[in-house]
Amino acid sequence: MDYFELKITCDAGMTEDAENFLVIHDIYNYFVTDPKLEADIMAEMPWLLKDERDTGDAYITVCLETAKEAEDLFGLLTENGFSVSVRGANDSEWKDNWKQFAKIVKITDTLVVKPAWLDYEPLPNEKVLELDSGAAFGTGTHETTQACARLICKYQKDQTKMLDIGTGSGILAIIGGMLGVTELVATDIDPVAVDTAKINIEKNGFSHICDVRCGDLLECVGEETFDIITANIIVDVLLILLKDVKQCLNPDGVLILSGILEERCHEILASAEENGFVLVEKIVDHDWCGLALRISDINL
Ligand SMILES: C[S@@+](CC[C@H](N)C(=O)[O-])C[C@H]1O[C@@H](n2cnc3c(N)ncnc32)[C@H](O)[C@@H]1O
Repeated sequence: MDYFELKITCDAGMTEDAENFLVIHDIYNYFVTDPKLEADIMAEMPWLLKDERDTGDAYITVCLETAKEAEDLFGLLTENGFSVSVRGANDSEWKDNWKQFAKIVKITDTLVVKPAWLDYEPLPNEKVLELDSGAAFGTGTHETTQACARLICKYQKDQTKMLDIGTGSGILAIIGGMLGVTELVATDIDPVAVDTAKINIEKNGFSHICDVRCGDLLECVGEETFDIITANIIVDVLLILLKDVKQCLNPDGVLILSGILEERCHEILASAEENGFVLVEKIVDHDWCGLALRISDINL
């Protein structure tokens, strides 16, 4: 037995509360199987899913390395009213298990994310990124990632330099590259995410312009400055980031923040104002907010 698989059972179409609960507790490496979601995708893109789909409950699967982690999360979830089971599983299962959850996702009107082993024929206006997210967060299905993608599409101009903090699978850095960013730095505190991002960034042809670094927030960035900075991380971490990030943003640059539950958005906006930023756009999708901010003392 090499890892522990924790399974949260939800009614079909009702995984949001459990997902939000995981993300605000800094747990990103989960997978969702939801017959309702699959039916919705099928209705929108019927050519993607050819098999008969499951019906019944939805499940969220979280894989944990130690019994202690599994026990702690099991306790936390059951105390908060979720229906949870845990089982031991072996490494060979894990290596292929996450693949069954990966799907083709239309992340914006023109960007499609697809797992490497699935085929997709793009429409003439679409660009396709290929991802093997493995254990790192960032398959493109989550609202927080989609908000960032939409804001990057809107605010990125040619010849820009982008910093992606908390890159996970590398998805936002790759989107930047596809939209014409000419220099990229992607960072993550998690070495597994850094390795995954490196592979994905190379697979999509951007390793020559992208430096992937392991470190906490801005510690591996030094004196460099950027035109676009993205950070899709939890609120408590974004509040720390906001204190120092202005020094890394060019005067007419855009800071894109996501991973913000609507009920805590006021904390981010207050801190942004205090630290010299002004809100230019807010996207709300279900319970999640994505923000585009600029430095407030610059007249554009
Ligand atoms: C929600 S995921 C975002 C992944 C991807 N950027 C996306 O938008 O889908 C957050 C990522 O931030 C990383 N992270 C968390 N705290 C961090 C910190 N203090 N510094 C850098 N990265 C951090 C996590 O390891 C995780 O990969």
